[in-house]
Amino acid sequence: MEEDTKTHRVSTSDDIEVSTYLGIARAMQAEQPEPKETAPLSGRETIIILDFGSQYSMLIARRIRECHVYCEVLPFDAPWERVEKLNPKGFILSGGPASVYSEGAPLAPTYVFEKHLPVLGICYGMQAIAHQLGGKVSPGEKREYGHAVLHIETDGSDLLAGLPTSMPVWMSHGDEVSELPPGFRALGYTENARYAVIGNDDGIYGLQFHPEVAHTPQGKQLIENFAYRVCGCSGNWTPARFISDSVERIRAQVGNGKVVCALSGGVDSAVTATLIHRAIGDSLTCIFINNGLLRREEPERVLNTFDNNLKVKVIYIDATERFLRRLRGAVDPELKRRIIGEEFIRIFEEEATKLGTVDFLAQGTVYPDVIESSSSRENKASARIKSHHNVGGLPEHMSLNLVEPLRYLFKDEVREVGLELGIPEEMIWRQPFPGPGLSIRVIGEVTAERLDILRSADWIVMNEIKKAKLYGQLWQSFAVLTDVRSVGVMGDTRTYGYLIAIRAVSSSDAMTADWARLPYELLDRMSDRIVNEVPHVNRVVYDITSKPPATIEWE
Ligand code: XMP
Repeated sequence: MEEDTKTHRVSTSDDIEVSTYLGIARAMQAEQPEPKETAPLSGRETIIILDFGSQYSMLIARRIRECHVYCEVLPFDAPWERVEKLNPKGFILSGGPASVYSEGAPLAPTYVFEKHLPVLGICYGMQAIAHQLGGKVSPGEKREYGHAVLHIETDGSDLLAGLPTSMPVWMSHGDEVSELPPGFRALGYTENARYAVIGNDDGIYGLQFHPEVAHTPQGKQLIENFAYRVCGCSGNWTPARFISDSVERIRAQVGNGKVVCALSGGVDSAVTATLIHRAIGDSLTCIFINNGLLRREEPERVLNTFDNNLKVKVIYIDATERFLRRLRGAVDPELKRRIIGEEFIRIFEEEATKLGTVDFLAQGTVYPDVIESSSSRENKASARIKSHHNVGGLPEHMSLNLVEPLRYLFKDEVREVGLELGIPEEMIWRQPFPGPGLSIRVIGEVTAERLDILRSADWIVMNEIKKAKLYGQLWQSFAVLTDVRSVGVMGDTRTYGYLIAIRAVSSSDAMTADWARLPYELLDRMSDRIVNEVPHVNRVVYDITSKPPATIEWE
């Protein structure tokens, strides 16, 4: 159970649930090969980040992408054949937990130094450069963790162009470079690190500190210098460019085949579907299953967006009855999740079968899912399958190759692309909503009546939060229908009604979250409206626990 809970609760993508069900169903059909890497389109410049296991590798990638330069994170030992296909313009060697002088320490492949491309080593990456090119790395006199001041010694280097002569940087290391490799110069130092920035005339640089973290305020400028000045990238990675590249790629991949895509109402599946539709028109069929666990007016809005704004054809299935029937009597949260997953796959299967031969399944997988699962593919895949052990496979006649156009995008890039494609802002900026929907916000048994109560209360919360212009600042804000009933008094009458909890949190990735300090007036308005407007509710509480120790959802 512990494992199940973990598997379900770490994901932050709005569409992860749908993708997970489909992914599992496919995996049960047969061993799934890794999706093929397609050759990059001409002119796309890539910076390759070789990952030595740093917790910051994904952040380095974010920073490069923010400069409108494409990059990919690859394992530190990625073969040249894989790298070459990406049209590399330079390498970044990430940090990592190892010591270069310990036995079996991961090192940079020789091509990094033989191809005459620029290299930037960060922390462990810098130590690897020093070690492999003939310098010396030793354990530092003391571990250095936290703020430091960098003093720049030599100007005139492209990497440090435009930076002040001293600036705050973030350090996190035990080892340090104690002797420079031949041909390298010291370009900057801190109080505890003689060699905090090093470089040679071939565009190989090392930084002992972390430019990618917010604690190094000028780090973005430094990374931009590396991408533009050192690697010579032109910054042509834009949403418009991504869309035109993707359209071309999707056409090449799909040919005359048929694609099916499940919509969730979230931004990832919406962008996936719209992009594929732009490429292949009505060879794409979208299926939107209403599981009866959506919020008020949500199905109508999703359909309206696709029909009217995006002109994408959608098969709409109102399966409310089926889901509620299956959920009858289910109280345990994980059981609810499992029932919903199974039912989703069954219905998807039935609908897809009606379409005849389908060749491709579109999925809104995004880059963090790819990076995360490639680092622990084995564990993750098996854990997921266990938690959904009785989800059936997809029909035989669906050979179902994957189309995953967002596979290399970060979530905010997905949003930018969505806006460029004309998807309404409301859908683009929707707060995350869990796949099992309101079922995990109705504590205890899920019934049509209890869902109605929750929908009415949730509508008021959403409405007031939006009126207070806080919707965009909060990670999530919603109502929960608890299974507590309490005594109240309305007029002269004693009531015995439901307890609604309001949950509002700020967060950047859902791994941790802080309860939102909402103004008292706003809490007062929400409470007042809920008890007055929602029948059977006579008490409202505000959840003031953060994550950890609580989770964002109550179930
Ligand atoms: P918790 O409650 O674990 O939630 O703090 C973290 C984030 O994940 C969402 N969540 C889910 N999303 N299926 C989903 O698709 C689920 O079963 C699920 N459970 C939680 C939650 O809304 C929050 O954004």
